[in-house]
Amino acid sequence: MSNKRRSLPFALSAALVIIVLLSSCKANNPVANREANALLKWKESLPSQSILDSWIVSEAHNISHTLPSPCKWYGITCNNAGSVTEINLSFKDLNGSLENLDFSSFPNLLRLDLKFNNLTGTIPTNIGLVSKLQFLDLSSNSLNGPLPLSLANLTQVYELDVSRNQISGVLDRRLFPDGRTASKSGLRSLKNLLFQDTQLGGRIPEEIGNLKFLVLVALDGSHFNGPIPQSLANLSDLAVLRLAENQLSGRVPERLGSSRKLSDLRLFGNKLSGTVPVELGNASSLVVLHLAENNFTGHLPPEVCKGGKLVNFSAAFNNFNGPIPTSLKNCRSLYRVRLEHNRLTGRIDKDLGVYPNLTYIDLSFNELQGQLSSNWGQCRNLTELKVAGNMISGKIPHEIFQLNQVVVLDLSSNRLSGEIPANIANLSSLSFLSLKDNKLSSWIPDKIGRLSNLESLELSSNMLSGPIPSQIGDCSKLRDLSLSKNRLEGTIPRQIGNLVSLQVSLDLSYNSLGGKIPPDLGSLIHLQSLNLSHNNLTGAIPPSLGDMVSLTDINLSFNHLEGHVPDISIFHSVQPEALSNNDNLCGKVEGLPPCNDTISETGKRNKKGKLIVIIVLASLGSALLISFMYAGIWAFLWKIKATKASEDEHASKGGNLFSICYFDGKIVYQDILEATNNFDDKYCIGIGGSGKVYKANVPGGDQVFAVKKLSFHATDGSQIESIKIFANEVAALTEIRHRNIVKLFGFCSQAMHTFLVYEFLERGSLADILRSDEEAEKLDWEKRIRVVKGVAHALSYMHHDCVPPIIHRDISSKNILLDSELEAHVSDFGTAKFLNLDSSNWTAVVGTFGYLAPELAYNMEVTEKCDVYSFGVLALEVLMGKHPGELMSDEENQTLHHKEVVLDHRLSPPSSQNVDDDLHLMMNVAITCMRAKPESRPTMRELKFFRGLICMHGGRILVVVVSAVFWR
Ligand SMILES: *[C@@H]1O[C@H](CO)[C@@H](O)[C@H](O)[C@H]1NC(C)=O
Ligand SMILES: *[C@@H]1O[C@H](CO)[C@@H](O)[C@H](O)[C@H]1NC(C)=O
Ligand SMILES: *[C@@H]1O[C@H](CO)[C@@H](O)[C@H](O)[C@H]1NC(C)=O
Ligand SMILES: *[C@@H]1O[C@H](CO)[C@@H](O)[C@H](O)[C@H]1NC(C)=O
Repeated sequence: MSNKRRSLPFALSAALVIIVLLSSCKANNPVANREANALLKWKESLPSQSILDSWIVSEAHNISHTLPSPCKWYGITCNNAGSVTEINLSFKDLNGSLENLDFSSFPNLLRLDLKFNNLTGTIPTNIGLVSKLQFLDLSSNSLNGPLPLSLANLTQVYELDVSRNQISGVLDRRLFPDGRTASKSGLRSLKNLLFQDTQLGGRIPEEIGNLKFLVLVALDGSHFNGPIPQSLANLSDLAVLRLAENQLSGRVPERLGSSRKLSDLRLFGNKLSGTVPVELGNASSLVVLHLAENNFTGHLPPEVCKGGKLVNFSAAFNNFNGPIPTSLKNCRSLYRVRLEHNRLTGRIDKDLGVYPNLTYIDLSFNELQGQLSSNWGQCRNLTELKVAGNMISGKIPHEIFQLNQVVVLDLSSNRLSGEIPANIANLSSLSFLSLKDNKLSSWIPDKIGRLSNLESLELSSNMLSGPIPSQIGDCSKLRDLSLSKNRLEGTIPRQIGNLVSLQVSLDLSYNSLGGKIPPDLGSLIHLQSLNLSHNNLTGAIPPSLGDMVSLTDINLSFNHLEGHVPDISIFHSVQPEALSNNDNLCGKVEGLPPCNDTISETGKRNKKGKLIVIIVLASLGSALLISFMYAGIWAFLWKIKATKASEDEHASKGGNLFSICYFDGKIVYQDILEATNNFDDKYCIGIGGSGKVYKANVPGGDQVFAVKKLSFHATDGSQIESIKIFANEVAALTEIRHRNIVKLFGFCSQAMHTFLVYEFLERGSLADILRSDEEAEKLDWEKRIRVVKGVAHALSYMHHDCVPPIIHRDISSKNILLDSELEAHVSDFGTAKFLNLDSSNWTAVVGTFGYLAPELAYNMEVTEKCDVYSFGVLALEVLMGKHPGELMSDEENQTLHHKEVVLDHRLSPPSSQNVDDDLHLMMNVAITCMRAKPESRPTMRELKFFRGLICMHGGRILVVVVSAVFWR
């Protein structure tokens, strides 16, 4: 019994093996023969293609008049009975049509996969005869004609994909099971239905809802119209519904919102209207929701991210109103969000969450208010942030500039104020930056030059002032640059000529740019549009503009250009308006007079009187602070003829009368008393807050000194202690040797008097020289440049070559003394902080009103950048011949005050190009030194470098080289 039982299965399996062997060697069973035959017939009908090379009848078969088994042919799979179950020729560039494939020959075919080929013709009607078929993928071919109704016979197909063909006609409702009758036909097993990018149109039949196993419906990119079938909401397994880019209209079925499994709903690009079901997202696990480009109204679904899985959400280009729902604001899973072009309202600052995975968000063109949230800075993966065209106000939070992945940043057309922060340079990936049409003020940070990937920069229509930073020339990938409609001043930096990638447009119009058009613009050979109109540009149009071979549009109108219009092709085709409203242009151009050479020459001579810039003076402290500052002012030296002090600054201390002042002050003390007749006013040459300055001609020594008598003396213990510290520091200061620093010989403090003893400089202070017309005229442009360079050199030495560094604290024209050669010497360095010994606060602000860095109004921290600021004021003063102007105070708003800088009219305009260039450079340097933010001012070492270059090269080249190293 048991033996019998065992042997039966054995016998069966042995028989099976034999059948299998037979079938694979010789297809002598009728089904296999029919299949092979059908495949060979189909192959014959196709253009010859190597992929079907294995589909052959061998000699042996020919002789024996049998057919081979197709089971080993390429792309064919059989069952154990040797019958074809799968034809898979996907991705094979197969040419030809299906018309000669006899589907009736494949009774066991389960899978037919022909996607991504080049099949043409229609889907044959007899496809409905493959009644066991479960999988049919004909997508990505060139099939046309309608869907054959016989498809309804394929009741076991779970996946049907004819996407990306030219299939046309409608979706016949008979393809789907009829809910009412008990008919057995229809694609009743369908789970995945894909008709993407076809020519199918008409309505989507309600019967689609009878496909109760549907998981995925993708009908996007076709021509379906009418409403979304209500019945889709009945499908309990539906996870993906893609109906985008059709002509669907009407409302979204209410109940669709409560589909629990719906995770991907794409409706964008239809004509849907009405409100979106509020339930949408509430119960479901929505991951993707696209509502964009319809005509939806009402609020965004309030619980859209309730499941916490929403990754990709778009509702752009609709009429949504109301606020961005809290659910969305707190949706940490977001990856991509598009809400642009709606009428969304409310503030977006307060409760905006952090989206660690967000890469793209566009909130542009809504009615959003509030400020930009600092939370944006934590969306570390952001590559595009667009909030253009809203009512966003306040400053751009610094945190945004931590987003080093950002490629596109568009904050244009809002109400943003404040300045463009210097740390914008952190956006190292930035390629598109638009801040246009806001209320941004202050200067364009020079760090913008570090944005080496920038291709488009739009800062137009703001209130930006100051110069165009020359570093902009480092943005070598720029294709489009617009700085128009601001208050930019200074000259057009030559470095803009480095932007050889500029192609779309260079627009600097509607500013207050002066100086000449740099000939370097000729290098912009790809540029198509150049607009420099509505500025104060002077001089002639450089002929080098003829090198801009791509230029199709130019506008130089409303400037002060003069002279010959160069005979270059662009001017042969322009409208006369492009050159209108200039001073004295002439040439062979429509609308201009012909040139008369003498006219243009006089024009040239007249042009150099003015050098106009606007300086921006940031706010200063209150009146209280100002009066306090006055206490720190003290004048020095008066013009007195005397023998020149020792020129040899390297003379050893030992050979000097006062070198032992600290050790035996008494002797010196007596000599000074005698030389000044006990500080008789007769010898007084200046008065300041800290005391009077006397000229002391010490008998026997044949030396003249300036002695500053401090108006305090040691009376009690604490002051004696202070004076000891002071004396130590002064001892250090006497070690300083520099040709542009007034030598401090020593310090004496006795019971009666305390005084400092300095080198005496006969020409007195720069302030006095500038005040006197006669003296000022003697200080010509070359000498003035030398004076400013001297001061720069001295400050660089004090800041960078002294250990510890010395901060002057009181750079002003009163503290710059000139020797007989009109060489500048900085005086009173390092002592300013001691001059207020009576004050309990030793670190109190000292310095001269009108030269004080704005940050001193807010804090007491004195850094070398305060000196840099004062230096900037001083440089402008030397250019103008008088102090650039009152500093206004408005702590709250940091209101900017503009002032014209006109070259000192007591001197004739600069005679040489080199001097002219140096003056422009000096002006630009001065402006940079006076930047409101200490950190954006250059250091004196950087300035010293510029000075060195001037000395070496002078003139033109300089500006380029200097600026390259200047603010890096
Ligand atoms: C696709 O088929 C068409 C028509 O049969 C033919 O002209 C075309 O060259 C084919 N394309 C490829 C890539 O084989
Ligand atoms: C459907 O399949 C049956 C066989 O299963 C066949 O007889 C019938 O002709 C087919 N109908 C269509 C429309 O193809
Ligand atoms: C959008 O809907 C409004 C009414 O809600 C209608 O006036 C408007 O024509 C519609 N726009 C489109 C493009 O269908
Ligand atoms: C961000 O993406 C990562 C990787 O896809 C994922 O593991 C993580 O959960 C996501 N974070 C959030 C808050 O969804």
